[in-house]
Amino acid sequence: MKILVIGSGGREHALVWKLAQSKKVEKIWAAPGNGGTSGEDKTENFLMDIDPGDIEGQKILLDFAQKEKIDLTVVGPETPLAAGIVDKFRAAGLAIVGPDSKAARLESSKVFSNTFMNHYGVRAPKRKNFSDPAAAIEYAQGHFGKKRRADETPVPLVIKADGLASGKGVVIAGTLDEAKECLSSFMKKSSLGSAGKNILFEEFIEGREVSVMAAVSVSPGKKPVIKPFISARDHKSRFEGGKGPNTGGMGAIAPVPDFTARIQKDFANAIVAPTLKGMIAENMDYRGFIFFGLMVKDDQCYLLEYNVRLGDPETQALLPLLDSDFYELCLSILDGSLSSFNLKWKKEFSCAPVVVVSGYPGSYPKGLPVAMNTTRLEKLGAKVFVAGAQRGGGGHLGSGLRTSGGRVLAVSCLGADQSEAHRRAYEALGFINFEGMDYRKDIGKASSADNGKADGSDGGNG
Ligand code: GLY
Repeated sequence: MKILVIGSGGREHALVWKLAQSKKVEKIWAAPGNGGTSGEDKTENFLMDIDPGDIEGQKILLDFAQKEKIDLTVVGPETPLAAGIVDKFRAAGLAIVGPDSKAARLESSKVFSNTFMNHYGVRAPKRKNFSDPAAAIEYAQGHFGKKRRADETPVPLVIKADGLASGKGVVIAGTLDEAKECLSSFMKKSSLGSAGKNILFEEFIEGREVSVMAAVSVSPGKKPVIKPFISARDHKSRFEGGKGPNTGGMGAIAPVPDFTARIQKDFANAIVAPTLKGMIAENMDYRGFIFFGLMVKDDQCYLLEYNVRLGDPETQALLPLLDSDFYELCLSILDGSLSSFNLKWKKEFSCAPVVVVSGYPGSYPKGLPVAMNTTRLEKLGAKVFVAGAQRGGGGHLGSGLRTSGGRVLAVSCLGADQSEAHRRAYEALGFINFEGMDYRKDIGKASSADNGKADGSDGGNG
């Protein structure tokens, strides 16, 4: 079978790596891929200069898929999904995993997803929409002006942009001035383009964040099912203990030890069941993956967001634990047999810290040669998933990679428990080096405040 994987990050590298393990997969094209995907078995990068999120890019991808007779396309990021790549491929009779553009509104419009959650009874923080900046500022004034004891700090106000904002659409304002600055930037100065024209205020819930991804097969005439994967946790803050600015993810663990059986039951009842009911009632064509961004407080799950794709970097922690054929899983999503698909997970734990260039998420240099002792990494059982690096010579010890982004790679290691996985992953980081290499030291560390507790942006509606 010939597979096309769309996207260029660490998540797509993990997808390519896992798909390549299937005996049925002969060839994988990664469009555009990165310096990691091109080094995987059976895989070739192509179309390095197209944007899968724009109309022209999608036309080129569709032409390519038809010409090459691609058997299955897997879409990594949300932008092509929101822009209708699934609709176009299906209209042309091609098999593609992902929701159509109507179903993708669960991520591309916060106003739509909030209405959906309310209507179908998905447990979520309370929210209020605004399209008028003056009315939004008045609401913020009311929130921060509420009478409270002199020693009490105000409850933060969570502000979410309605549209896709590449991870920049959520601000937790601790003061009225911060709220006003954000509202002015989103709604008046259009700092996020059209994404911030409408906003939502969201009730701040302090708890532990958990990501649960799932396979979804909902389409008219087929048996509808959402099959959750084991849990994972991203660590979005740049520095240890949940400090510093938000990033695209500084590392992930899976499964999450504090996501207990009792909480999983609550998740199934309060989040998954009403979501499935809503998808069926809305006649959605959703054959792909979904990401539930949860806040867990007092053993109860609240849904902060849906993403209509797999998480990054959660996928890099999760896929090494998957003991089933990912290609077969994709087929079962498409042909309606997902409910009987045997999803098997290794009884181990995974830890995947992300390596960045010093300066990230601010400005940072590019083109730095990456040194990697692949023999030692392999001996440790470590798997490197590249995000922001391309093949371009340089580097010694055979890596051949040069950095091209701020988040360069993730190193995934497994262990019998979370602390063993953590120890191995950090030992593995000792076999990678480049100028300005940096990473958080506490991903998966049992004693760390960064086990998902509310400690700034790692633990509150991020
Ligand atoms: N790690 C969060 C996300 O993928 O949206």
